[in-house]
Amino acid sequence: NWNMKNFISDQVELVRRQVGDKKVLLALSGGVDSSVVAALLLKAIGNNLTCVHVNHGLLRKGEAEQVVKVFREELGANLIYVDASERFLNKLEGVSDPEKKRKIIGAEFIRVFEEEARKLEGIEYLGQGTIYPDIVESGTKTAKVVKSHHNVGGLPEDLQFELVEPLRQLFKDEVRACGLELGLPDEMVYRQPFPGPGLGVRCLGAITRERLEVVREADAILREEFKNAGLDRQVWQYFTIIPDFKSVGVRDNARCFEYPIILRAVNTVDAMTATIEQLPWPILLKITDRILKEVKGVNRVCYDLTPKPVGTIEWE
Ligand code: XMP
Repeated sequence: NWNMKNFISDQVELVRRQVGDKKVLLALSGGVDSSVVAALLLKAIGNNLTCVHVNHGLLRKGEAEQVVKVFREELGANLIYVDASERFLNKLEGVSDPEKKRKIIGAEFIRVFEEEARKLEGIEYLGQGTIYPDIVESGTKTAKVVKSHHNVGGLPEDLQFELVEPLRQLFKDEVRACGLELGLPDEMVYRQPFPGPGLGVRCLGAITRERLEVVREADAILREEFKNAGLDRQVWQYFTIIPDFKSVGVRDNARCFEYPIILRAVNTVDAMTATIEQLPWPILLKITDRILKEVKGVNRVCYDLTPKPVGTIEWE
């Protein structure tokens, strides 16, 4: 008789059997898979689990705070929060090539995680939010990068841990059900996919702190309006992009030269192809109005109508 309650109690038992009273380390990004595996491991081994949340400075508004609030404050997990924003942004300064940006972010992520791992005593296992589609290799960019971010293969030999992967039999909808059963908030369990390099690939060209802040604020407005309209559970991925050029506008009867913001909202099954969400005009207008009023430095909002192919979901 397979149900989620039984699955959880079975996995709790199996994890306990696998790791005994040894310690487990987990890179907790706050994404669905890592959050659910964190909650499950916490239930199984309590404070023998240490979670590390690395803030690379490219997270969405409120994201790191939510991870700390849910896992440390509400669930009482042993959580190390590393604000490495300055490190990442310094490394990325002046780098405009998208693949170089990704490489820098991926490599720095592993370096930060490794440094934290070295500070800890007696870790023998590494928890991972591997799910069934990761194993059968969906071939999407997401799957690949999730690997380069979290794979033990990226760590030096003296830091090779044995893996604990209790979600490896589950499909995504089952992972969500598992998260809900474990008491994680809806917001976390139904979170839209977010790329490892985060806002870094949505702040086009060489990232600046100024534009990063602008795209983060615009994204927060878009997400809030999607939530208010009930679109957050209906649209697969929705976000904002900021280019690295400005356009001319007029504000308070004076010329202004500011950044445009691009809105993107797509639906897909496997991220290999995607279609455009035909957003209702009033919602588009409301988001546009709010961004123009509330986000300093933006004088134009555009909606991207490009399906994949030809456009990829992300702009970089
Ligand atoms: P594209 O832009 O290739 O994106 O159509 C397909 C899906 O993959 C996500 N994506 C990434 N995920 N690291 C990730 O973890 C990346 O470097 C990366 N690039 C794209 C994208 O958000 C979409 O869901």
